Amino acid sequence: MATATTEPVRLPPGPRIPKIVQGIAFLTAQCEVVSVLGRRYGGTFTINLPIFGKTVFVSDALLIKDIFSTSDDLIERPTNVLGPAFGPGSTFSLTGKEHLKRRKLVLPAFHGKVVRSYEHIVEEEVMNETANWPEGREFETLETMARLTLNSILRAVFGEGRQALDELRSIMPALVTLASFVSQMPSIVARDFGRWSPGGRLLRLRSRFDTAIDSLIADARADPAFEERSDVLAVLLKARYENGEPISDRHIADELLTLVAAGHETTAAQLAWTVERLRRHPELMSRLADEVDAGGSELRQATIFEVQRTRPNIEGSIRCAKERIRLGDWVIPAGTNVTVNFQLAHESEENFPDAASFNPDRFLGASPKPFRWLPYGGGVNRCVGAGFAAMEMDVALRTLLREFRFAPTDAPGERHHYRGVSIAPARGARAVVYRRTAATSGDRVSASAADHGS
Ligand code: HEM
Repeated sequence: MATATTEPVRLPPGPRIPKIVQGIAFLTAQCEVVSVLGRRYGGTFTINLPIFGKTVFVSDALLIKDIFSTSDDLIERPTNVLGPAFGPGSTFSLTGKEHLKRRKLVLPAFHGKVVRSYEHIVEEEVMNETANWPEGREFETLETMARLTLNSILRAVFGEGRQALDELRSIMPALVTLASFVSQMPSIVARDFGRWSPGGRLLRLRSRFDTAIDSLIADARADPAFEERSDVLAVLLKARYENGEPISDRHIADELLTLVAAGHETTAAQLAWTVERLRRHPELMSRLADEVDAGGSELRQATIFEVQRTRPNIEGSIRCAKERIRLGDWVIPAGTNVTVNFQLAHESEENFPDAASFNPDRFLGASPKPFRWLPYGGGVNRCVGAGFAAMEMDVALRTLLREFRFAPTDAPGERHHYRGVSIAPARGARAVVYRRTAATSGDRVSASAADHGS
């Protein structure tokens, strides 16, 4: 674990080019730049960015373990990263003891048994959203994934059949996009400069969100079946801190926005990457379809792990040193950002031999190793919804493979595109699909081969 120190500062090496040039390179091609710097400096380096200042990138498993196990008196997640977008009552705005107390109340809503009870929701949403998928014509799958993950999380969070959900369905995509955009910008962008300014639009959308939430909270309290309800809203309304106090309604609203926002774009992007990868690995796709037909899941699980390894859709966990700390051989001054970079850790040959190849078989019969495979982060801020996301991706992929044959392609892999906080395939994970019928499922492999390159 990192420790407080008074030793002279010793930052990892990094490029010496001007801050502004580093900033532009990061803004335009972050994933590529991170790979290049990782190869040049061996996985731990310092960059200097406008607004953010000096940032240490870390991908070594031992240092990552140190960071995630260091007391939050020394390192903590800066609350200005997503906190202002979600509000003061969001998990992302809380640190230290306040954060842990809240996490304890939110976690029961995502326990394994509860998460499994949502499987049917995901399957229904996949069926609804793919009902009109065209056959034999290329189209973007990312938007479908975004709608199905939004609808799934809304139903899981608020329970079934609530009227105010229609309003949330219509405002959430714009609200999440704007909130993510504003959270990446200097704080002045969040100010209300009128209804067309980003800050102004965000405030107005947030006000509509709050009105919808007030009505959902009032309905839940008036629901005769409230005590039996296990949706996230009901769990949060019933939750009590150790002193017996409930979470305030305003904080519940911030937390619900957090869960819906954090819980839908991320999973959508990861599902889109799954389609993007599978179309470029027809043999794997064929094995996966056979496994679905036989009722298995091991290869599918391994495939999801490998997609998350090779295409993590969150770049990393950002922390800030509150005091001067010693981290491994380095001495990092107070106020410096330290980023656990998932892409670098996942590209490391030490962590994953033949790391550049997409090979789900590496995870067959072997769980991903902690501090090496980290799409959900780690430590006290590890993703609360990891179990939900894993279930959602598994059920969605199973349903897609059962219903569709994805035509392979030899087009180059899609580039990375930042959609607010999550990284999605730049062309929207384009696909050509055919419905599987009893007649076609048997000759899947030969049909796929004939379509190759379409
Ligand atoms: C593939 C899908 C997902 C990925 C890759 C992902 C990734 C992450 C990562 C990396 C973090 C840690 C951030 C940090 O270290 O600062 C995180 C935190 C969080 N995630 Fe997720 N997430 C996903 C899905 C979800 C879902 C479905 C939900 C909720 C339903 C959710 C809710 C949260 C929350 C509330 C936190 C903050 C936890 C805390 O600070 O205590 N995420 N997620």
